[in-house]
Amino acid sequence: MGVFDNILHSDQTLLKNPDALDFDFIPKIVPYREEEQRKIANAIQPMFSNKTGGNLIIVGSPGVGKTVACRHVLRELEEKSENIMPIYVNCWKKNTSYKIAIGLCEEIGYTFTQNKRTEELLKEAIKYFNKKMVVFVFDEADKAEETDFLYTLIEEVYKKSVLLITNSDTFFEELDDRIKSRLIPNFAEFRPYGLEETRGILKQRIEDAFYPGVWETDAFEAVVEKAYELRDIRIGIHFLKGACDAAESRSSKKIAMRDVQDSISRAERSPTQNKDSIENEERIILDIIRANSGMKIGDFFDIYSKKGGEGGYKTFQRRIKSLDEKGFLKLSKSKEGKGNTTIVEYKERVKSLADFSKGE
Ligand SMILES: Nc1ncnc2c1ncn2[C@@H]1O[C@H](COP(=O)(O)OP(=O)(O)O)[C@@H](O)[C@H]1O
Ligand SMILES: [Mg+2]
Repeated sequence: MGVFDNILHSDQTLLKNPDALDFDFIPKIVPYREEEQRKIANAIQPMFSNKTGGNLIIVGSPGVGKTVACRHVLRELEEKSENIMPIYVNCWKKNTSYKIAIGLCEEIGYTFTQNKRTEELLKEAIKYFNKKMVVFVFDEADKAEETDFLYTLIEEVYKKSVLLITNSDTFFEELDDRIKSRLIPNFAEFRPYGLEETRGILKQRIEDAFYPGVWETDAFEAVVEKAYELRDIRIGIHFLKGACDAAESRSSKKIAMRDVQDSISRAERSPTQNKDSIENEERIILDIIRANSGMKIGDFFDIYSKKGGEGGYKTFQRRIKSLDEKGFLKLSKSKEGKGNTTIVEYKERVKSLADFSKGE
């Protein structure tokens, strides 16, 4: 072998299909989630006999295949049925009833949305839906700030399945009673993947994305371990991509351990150094949270204010929300007196997770 044989030319790439590393890529098969996909299919099943479907709450931590399993089933449904319409909404992107109503109108091709109120928009969509049957998937459902859209759809669409995807264990409990009592859902819990499963999924992904033989075994194994350690396939895919960039930038035809290490260490540098995705005040707040992880949101606000932080409590809450959306925090509810308070924890994760998790 000549000394130049391992050099990648400037017009060459290691990727046979870059799309396969997009986070919203839907692979041909979604292994290890057969049981879960069957639950989804079971909810939809009655509509094939022209009856209304069941409802399902899908729960699990980020990066365990909730979205991809659902979309995979929806894609199959699209091929199998003309009358059952799949509607997918990401409530992170559309987080109010109004935005969701506009989204539904777009889905049905209804364009006279200007100057119309949420209820009017929903009415138009529902009129259309009631000529067919619908599978609604509301992904990141806990991120919706309002739930009246849900109540209206449950009440007024006759034949449907409602699938709600969430990271939050307490999501259903915290839903409005009116919705809870009408939904009567089944539950599908997505557990994190084991090591073998993580390897299997990532192996399939490199076969979809890369030319054969590009990955050195120990390098691939390092990605598998990292994804398994963090129980998040999305992070594995992120490192597949990052290591590929590193190898390409040193014009290597092989992706080696050093490329993976390069990609991991780039990601593990303090998220607070990542100026693009985080504004100054958020950075200060994040530093406080990192030092005192696990306290109540109000207590964090007090510390922040005492340190000369700007803005009132509302602004502070908005910044916490923004940090949460970017993947830096873990928020959980806790009872306090009659009401609830939010416990804020710092999430030890790779940088700007939201940059890639926000998509789906
Ligand atoms: N069983 C699987 N088979 C193939 N790809 C998977 C599987 N589980 C997860 N993935 C991939 O991992 C990434 C994260 O999965 P996703 O469904 O977005 O997770 P979640 O919605 O639970 O946060 C996606 O790119 C997805 O395609
Ligand atoms: Mg998801």
